[in-house]
Amino acid sequence: MSIHFEALHDRVDLLHQCCVLLNSYWRRSYDERLKKVGRSNDHFPCNLLMLDGEEFIGHVELSQVVGDEKCLRLKAVIIDPNRRGEGLGRKLLHLTEEYAKKRGFTSLCLSSENKKLFYKKCGFYETSPVQQCSSNALESKFEMLQKSVNHATSTNEVDEKMPRAEDESKIHIIPPPPPLIKSHQVSSNDEISKTCWLRKEI
Ligand SMILES: CC(C)(COP(=O)(O)OP(=O)(O)OC[C@H]1O[C@@H](n2cnc3c(N)ncnc32)[C@H](O)[C@@H]1OP(=O)(O)O)[C@@H](O)C(=O)NCCC(=O)NCCS
Repeated sequence: MSIHFEALHDRVDLLHQCCVLLNSYWRRSYDERLKKVGRSNDHFPCNLLMLDGEEFIGHVELSQVVGDEKCLRLKAVIIDPNRRGEGLGRKLLHLTEEYAKKRGFTSLCLSSENKKLFYKKCGFYETSPVQQCSSNALESKFEMLQKSVNHATSTNEVDEKMPRAEDESKIHIIPPPPPLIKSHQVSSNDEISKTCWLRKEI
């Protein structure tokens, strides 16, 4: 199968890998990360996983923009460190454009601290800041999962949609948070940190 997107909320089995990848660059507690990505749903925020066949290789989070309903905001764009430099970042942005167009959006926007050149190479231009729609009314999939797991455990029920015993361990084992040394790791490709807003018409 070729490189494609799948929604995180349809691939609960990849929750753990997704948290590990995101935390490898943007450090947070594992629990906080799990809660955040667990809010993914068919509306927004929506976390998309890029897969090469069955291999998880990238991620983007999408949300709506206040006062600009045709614009989709991208966050947490990331490619697996072992697969960078192969054109997959560009591919992820291309797939995001296709996804956004199908859902009726006409532009993409994002903020970046140190990857402005990457986005400019992919057709984005500098613009003014936008405000993201709040999503706190949504119950997180993680919270729903936890409730269902607790319920199934207490009633001895087994739901086919819930992770099996071997998958459950991925959700409940919470490793200690890494030391807080930097907000993210800086590679030799990174520019000097200065938040910049970028946009692309699609
Ligand atoms: C930024 C990131 C997504 C790029 O992914 P990638 O798969 O390595 O990028 P690609 O191979 O598709 O590169 C596409 C083009 O952008 C260029 N590019 C990639 N990273 C770049 C960087 N940091 N600075 C300048 N140009 C860059 C490539 O050289 C390539 O240019 P070319 O077409 O002229 O050869 C990846 O490095 C990553 O996951 N970084 C950590 C997370 C991150 O910083 N995300 C962005 C947050 S705003």
